[in-house]
Amino acid sequence: MKPTDTPKTYRVKSFGCQMNVYDGDRMGEMLAARGITPAPEGEDADLVVLNTCHIREKAAEKVYSDIGRLVKAGEEAGKKPLIAVAGCVAQAEGEEIMARAPAVSMVVGPQAYHRLPEMLDKAVAGERATDTDMPAIAKFDALPQRRKIGPTAFLTVQEGCDKFCTYCVVPYTRGAEISRPYGDLVSEAQKLVEAGAREITLLGQNVNAWSGEDDKGRRQGLAGLIHALAAIDGLERIRYTTSHPMDMDEALIAAHGEIAKLMPYLHLPVQSGNDRVLKAMNRSHTAEGYLRLLERFRAARPDIALSGDFIVGFPGETEAEFAGTLSLVDEVKYAQAFSFKYSARPGTPAATMDGQIAREVMDERLQRLQAALNRDQLAFNQASVGKTCEVLVERKGKHPGQWLGKSPWLQSVWFEADCAIGDLVTAELAEAGPNSLRGIPKVAALSSVG
Ligand code: 5AD
Ligand code: SF4
Repeated sequence: MKPTDTPKTYRVKSFGCQMNVYDGDRMGEMLAARGITPAPEGEDADLVVLNTCHIREKAAEKVYSDIGRLVKAGEEAGKKPLIAVAGCVAQAEGEEIMARAPAVSMVVGPQAYHRLPEMLDKAVAGERATDTDMPAIAKFDALPQRRKIGPTAFLTVQEGCDKFCTYCVVPYTRGAEISRPYGDLVSEAQKLVEAGAREITLLGQNVNAWSGEDDKGRRQGLAGLIHALAAIDGLERIRYTTSHPMDMDEALIAAHGEIAKLMPYLHLPVQSGNDRVLKAMNRSHTAEGYLRLLERFRAARPDIALSGDFIVGFPGETEAEFAGTLSLVDEVKYAQAFSFKYSARPGTPAATMDGQIAREVMDERLQRLQAALNRDQLAFNQASVGKTCEVLVERKGKHPGQWLGKSPWLQSVWFEADCAIGDLVTAELAEAGPNSLRGIPKVAALSSVG
C-alpha cells in the first residue's frame, strides 16, 4: 500500500449487539482524541471503521459488499478512504479479509481495538496491519476517558463467554469470560455521571457472571456492584444486559426488590422452550428451570418487564418441539423479545449436526413466534396505560415540542412538554401502540441537568 495523508474525518459503522455499539463509540473517541473528527452526515469519511457482527447470517458477505461500496465511492470522488474492519468478523476471518480485500488496511479484533491508533500510523505509512490478540483488560486501561455523553451510557463490565452454546460464535470471537475490576468500574461510572449520564446500562455477554473484589476485599457478584453504583449521586437508573440463567444468584434477584435505581426490566434469553433442544444447544437449563427463575424475579419485583431471545429451527427441531417454545412464550408473556432463525456458524458444533431445517420451515416458525411475541408486547404496553412513571428524556421527537424517552420498563414514550434531554419527566401513560406509548406529563420538566 502507498503512504497516504493522515485522515481528517472518520465514520464508525457498528452492526449487531449493544457491546458492539459501545466498542464503536470507544473507537470513535480514540480517533477523536487524535484530532480526527466525525464525518458530517452524508459526506464520505477519510477513514471508515466497519465494526462487524458475526452472530448471524451473511456477516462476512456484508463486509465485502460494504468494502466494495466504499472503494467505488472513493474512486468516484477521486480519493481512497482508509478502511478498518473491526468486530467479530475481523476476529473470526481477519486473515481472509486481508487476503481478499486489498483496500482494507487494518483488521482489528474486539479485544485489541485500543491499538487502533498505532495501526492507523502504520496504515498512513502504507503498511497493512492485523491485530486479533485477546488481552481484554489491557484494552480498558488503554482507552481514553469519556468526556461528554448523553443521558444514557453503556459500561462494559464483563466480556466473553465460557458457555459454548452449540450454535454460537461468541466464545470464539470474544474469548473467555473476564470481569473488569470493581474499583475501575465504580470510578468509570462516577466519571460517566459527571459527563452527563443519568442512566447506566452494564454490559456483558454474560453480565451476571461478573464478579470481583470490593474496596474491602470482599467477593462481590453483579448485585454487589449494582449496590455500589446505586450510591452514586446523580445516577438515577441502572440496567444490565445480557444475562444467562445459569449465572443468576439470589442477591441479584433480591436487588430488584431492594434498589430503587435498578430498573424493573430483565433480559434473560431462553432460546427454546423444549428440553431436548435446550440440551442439544448446551444451554444447561431446562424450560421449567427457566420459568421458576422468572417466578423468583416476579416475586422480588412484581412489575418487572421480561425480555428474551429465541432461536427457531435449531437442527433437529420438530414441530412439537417448536410448539414447546410457543407455550413457554404464552406462559411468560414477555414485554419485549428478540427472535431469530437459526444460522449455521462455521466452526460451531451445531453447524455440522444432522437435521438442518429447511428455510421455509424456519420462516414459517419465525412468523408464528413473532406473531405471539408481538401480541404480548402490545398487551404489555396496553396494560401500562393509566400508570404514572418517570420517563428519561433521550431525544427530540419528529414534531416541535415533542420528546422521546424511556419508561422504567424500557418502553419508548413520546409526549409534549417543555423539557430538555436528560430530564426525568413524570408522565401518565395514556395510549399504547405495539412499539411506543403516548405520555401526558403530570408536571412540566421536574428536574433539569446542568
Ligand atoms: N443463529 C441464530 N441466532 C443466534 N444467536 C446466537 N447465535 C445464533 C445463531 N447461530 C442469537 C441468540 C442470542 C442472540 C444474541 O443471538 O438468541 O441470544
Ligand atoms: Fe453465545 Fe450461549 Fe455465550 Fe450467549 S451464553 S454468548 S448464546 S455461547
